[in-house]
Amino acid sequence: VALKLYIGFFLLYMLSLEQSLSNNSSSFPSNFFFGTSSSAYQYEGAYLADGKGLNNWDVYSHKPGNLIVDGSNADIAVDHYHRYLEDIDLMHSLGVNSYRFSISWARILPKGRFGEINEAGIKFYNNLIDGLLLKGIEPFITLTHIDFPQELEDRYGSWLSPESQEDFAYYADICFKSFGDRVKYWVTFNEPSFQVKLGYQAGTFPPSRCSKPFGNCTYGDSEKEPFIAAHNIILAHIAAVHIYRTKYQATQGGSLGIVLHCFWYEPISNSVADKLAAERAQSFSINWYIPFTILFFIFYTNKAKMQDILGSILPEFSKTEKQKLNKGLDFIGINHYTSFYVRNCMLTTCGPGKGTSKTEGYWTQSSQKNGIDIGEPTELAGMNVYPQGMEKIVTYLKDRYHNVPMIITENGYGDMNKPNSTTESLLHDVERIKYLAGYLDALSTAIKKGADVRGYFVWSLLDNFEWNDGYTIRFGLHHVDYKTLRRTPKSSATWYRNFISQHIVKD
Ligand code: NOJ
Repeated sequence: VALKLYIGFFLLYMLSLEQSLSNNSSSFPSNFFFGTSSSAYQYEGAYLADGKGLNNWDVYSHKPGNLIVDGSNADIAVDHYHRYLEDIDLMHSLGVNSYRFSISWARILPKGRFGEINEAGIKFYNNLIDGLLLKGIEPFITLTHIDFPQELEDRYGSWLSPESQEDFAYYADICFKSFGDRVKYWVTFNEPSFQVKLGYQAGTFPPSRCSKPFGNCTYGDSEKEPFIAAHNIILAHIAAVHIYRTKYQATQGGSLGIVLHCFWYEPISNSVADKLAAERAQSFSINWYIPFTILFFIFYTNKAKMQDILGSILPEFSKTEKQKLNKGLDFIGINHYTSFYVRNCMLTTCGPGKGTSKTEGYWTQSSQKNGIDIGEPTELAGMNVYPQGMEKIVTYLKDRYHNVPMIITENGYGDMNKPNSTTESLLHDVERIKYLAGYLDALSTAIKKGADVRGYFVWSLLDNFEWNDGYTIRFGLHHVDYKTLRRTPKSSATWYRNFISQHIVKD
């Protein structure tokens, strides 16, 4: 009897939560994209199947001593490579009209541009794209989401070399040619600021170059390398866009963007110094990567500009490169999860470098280091719930970049796998529902105030491999049992389905 009562109360609670969280004033245009996001390395598994080459994360995760907290890897991940049809069915039952996924570069070109095209890789993505379209789900493709063929690293140190630009352009061309008749939304890179910061400064992502040697990490010139890598990434983006514009735009008519890691940085006071500090933080993580305004940025006279801080460390773009940068984007992809307070303490008291490195503190400045959280803390360190951050970051980008079309390419809530976590407790993910409801409401407000946002993608459809955190954090709308790979919808999956059906305004 007690159990029945408990279940009864629980269902009532879920029902009232559902109602209270969907009775808000959010609404979205009828052509709005609602979807879920994923990436190849975190989902596919099948790490050497059907001719795929090794990528940087295969190699990194197999080397003992590298940082992956549970010692895992993504050799199997959630086996999406073999279960993609089942996963498309899950999307269909959510009622989403779009899906963002990435292509495994090493599955298409096992040896980068130095080998043959792997036809089995092309076939896999053709099947996935066709399967999605059959269910009315629009594919959004990210060309590279952190993973790339190890060959590029071994031959010339990947993004530290200008050769990487040509390599990426060659790969992008193959993808446009093979899939562009059906794919209309392309993202070149996912979160380049994080990729270069973790790969060439913190050393916790491959190629593991760091300022302070630890574990297997190799000492690199971490003052300069992140910027050299980012410079090559921006030019690789531009090279791919140039190919699309000249060879495919007229016939395929698609749109291209880049996905940026967008924290919202809130100045902790109204002082000019703190406001400039917040602006500086945005410049380091976002603004540099927005190629179509790069000219504006370089001659920008605000003290916040990176060039004032970095001087000759910041690589220069040539005249021709600057010209090409101008038509570099059709949309900005925004990955937004959380916010931080910022105060002007760089190079003095706060930030990990405490003044020892010219650039280090600028990546990470936040008052969290001084114990001041914004919003509601969660069990994940550095992940605070602050829905207002969604409205603020979207409005910031709208105002700064002439209301360029934006897509929220990721937003989501992670649960820690705790020793006492049961499947039941993970399935009833009330905190995730509250988080998504709050952020979607804030997004709707930004849209109502005029921001040109075209879509929203939850990270993620399924629990999956979370990089250095392995399988210890779960972001999915569906629970994955990693022993059986069985997928089970969480309460948030039902909530998202209802939200989508109730919040699209028919015109
Ligand atoms: C952003 C990254 O793009 C994705 O790979 C990661 O899993 C999520 N954030 C969650 O941390």
